[in-house]
Amino acid sequence: MSNIDHYSRDRARHYQVHHDKSLRTRLTTWRERACLRHALRDAGSPTTALDLPCGTGRFWPVFAEAGVESLIAGDGSAGMLEVAAGNRLGPKLPERLVETSAFDMDLPDQCVDFAACMRFYHHLAMPGDRQALLGELKRVSRRHAAVSLWVDGNLAGNRRLRKPPPPDEPGYGKRRCRRREEVEAEFEQAGFRIVRAYDVWPLIYMWRLYLLEHD
Ligand SMILES: C[S@@+](CC[C@H](N)C(=O)[O-])C[C@H]1O[C@@H](n2cnc3c(N)ncnc32)[C@H](O)[C@@H]1O
Repeated sequence: MSNIDHYSRDRARHYQVHHDKSLRTRLTTWRERACLRHALRDAGSPTTALDLPCGTGRFWPVFAEAGVESLIAGDGSAGMLEVAAGNRLGPKLPERLVETSAFDMDLPDQCVDFAACMRFYHHLAMPGDRQALLGELKRVSRRHAAVSLWVDGNLAGNRRLRKPPPPDEPGYGKRRCRRREEVEAEFEQAGFRIVRAYDVWPLIYMWRLYLLEHD
C-alpha cells in the first residue's frame, strides 16, 4: 500500500486547511459541491454511494443533503483516512472507511448505486491506469459514476495546453489538463455513456464533473 500513500497525516491536515484557506478555495469547493449535487439529482437521487478517493471527506455533506443513506469512502492514504475519520457526519456517512487502491478496489461488485471519483483522474498519465480506474468504477457501481478532472475548452485549459505537459509517470502523478474529446472517448471505451457534464467555472477554469452511466 505504501506506493499509493502520498499523504502523511500532516500533509492530509494541510490538504483540509488548504481548501478552506481563502475566498477562492472556498468558492471553488462550493461550486464543486453544487456540481456533485446536480449529478446526484440527475442520477435519480441514489441512496448508496462510494466516494473514492475521499481525501478528507470534502464532499460528504453533499451526499448527506442529496439523500444518500449509506456511503462507502475509500482512499489509498492512511493519513487522509485518519483526518477524514474526524469529519464523519453519522454512523452511515460514511458507513465504511476503506484503505484501498483506486486501481484495485477492495470492494464487492455492484456494492453502490453511484461511485464518485473527485479530483483524481487528471493525476493519471498512463492510459492503462485510467482504464483500470474506470473499470473499477464500473464494477463497483450498479449504474452511475461521477468523475471530476481538468479539461480544455476554457481560458485556463487552453493556456495550459500550450505548455509542455508534466512528465509521464505511472500512478498518481502531477496534474494535467486533458482534451475533452480524448477523455470522453476514454469513458466510452470503458463502457460508459456520458449523461451530462457540469463545469465548475464555465469558460474560465478547467474543473469539470462528468456524470456517466452503464448498463
Ligand atoms: C487531490 S486528492 C482528492 C481527494 C478528494 N476526492 C477531494 O476532492 O478532496 C487525491 C487523493 O487521491 C488519493 N490517492 C492517490 N493515489 C491513490 C490510489 N492509487 N488509490 C487510492 N487513492 C489514491 C490521495 O491519497 C488523495 O487523497
